[in-house]
Amino acid sequence: MFLVAGASSGPGQLVVADLLARKMPTRVLVRSDAQVAQFEALGAEAAKGDVGDEAALVRACAGVSTVISLVGRHFADTRERLWSVDALGNAALVRAAAAAGVKRFVLLSALWADRELPPVLLAAKRYAEQALVESGMSYAILRPSTFTTGASSLVGAVGPSIERWGLAFIPRPDSQPISFITLADVAAAIVAAALDDRPSLVAELGGPEALTMAEGARRLGAVLNKKVRIVRVPRFVSSLWRRVARRRSFGAYELMLFLDMLADHGYHCDAGPARQLLGREPTGVDEALRAYYATTKLTPWRESNVGVLSTRSK
Ligand SMILES: NC(=O)c1ccc[n+]([C@@H]2O[C@H](COP(=O)([O-])OP(=O)(O)OC[C@H]3O[C@@H](n4cnc5c(N)ncnc54)[C@H](OP(=O)(O)O)[C@@H]3O)[C@@H](O)[C@H]2O)c1
Repeated sequence: MFLVAGASSGPGQLVVADLLARKMPTRVLVRSDAQVAQFEALGAEAAKGDVGDEAALVRACAGVSTVISLVGRHFADTRERLWSVDALGNAALVRAAAAAGVKRFVLLSALWADRELPPVLLAAKRYAEQALVESGMSYAILRPSTFTTGASSLVGAVGPSIERWGLAFIPRPDSQPISFITLADVAAAIVAAALDDRPSLVAELGGPEALTMAEGARRLGAVLNKKVRIVRVPRFVSSLWRRVARRRSFGAYELMLFLDMLADHGYHCDAGPARQLLGREPTGVDEALRAYYATTKLTPWRESNVGVLSTRSK
């Protein structure tokens, strides 16, 4: 039995569909009745529970041989909430899995979780990774770069303003290169890592080309057949914004830390480990954007960086 925690995330839904298509017995850990009904209708078993509820985790792990965790809350409205999900929640799931005799645990971490950089997410993922490494279970840790589409992605960064006005707001002079990777490739690599028998697999996941944010914006414009005007935002504006964000909401502040990291360092890695897990070349940005815009006309603002920046901590 496979347990997929974070099944409702972009990659999670694809992982569950893939496991079910392979006729693998699959249970999901989800938090709402609607999600229980949605996954049961697909043929999965559903366990309802939050990673903060140890008893629910024990029930979810019973009879499971492989756990796949995609659980995360990057832009939570407080630092404590991010930490309680990404760090403590994943560590609690690792503990419950080890106690239940789970053989293999696949953790979706994040690129550069092994580096000391300002985004809190990286420290939280590092904490979860450490808990897994020390658990004694066979493991795979996957560290993807930014997704091409989805909740926090290339499209989430520049899509809505290009779709509506042909404008892209980019830190001046530009970001450093980012190895955008598709949700479908992340999901396929997760399934491959779950079925792999290497006892301590750690792989960075990046797409076949590393693009700056301005290059990504132009590619997005080309797919939409739109000329893109790049508005280069001076760094003093983004640092002012970061200070304002810090007072309003942790999620907005964390996003500014992440954008500053992209401007200073990028978010890139070699495509080799992804290629090896997938057994093929990872999908390029253009192909992923064409597939996305074949079914999407306008990305809602709430699913973009603007949605995160406009949140307020309660
Ligand atoms: N987006 C990127 O570019 C990127 C890059 C590197 C790594 N990642 C990692 O990939 C994973 C999925 O990312 P995403 O962008 O698709 O994020 P997402 O849509 O926010 O998905 C997060 C998942 O975690 C679940 N979750 C959150 N809090 C939970 C809790 N307390 N208990 C149980 N489940 C909980 C969510 O369930 P609900 O539906 O119930 O909220 C959802 O299924 C995350 O771990 C993220 O850190 C993302």
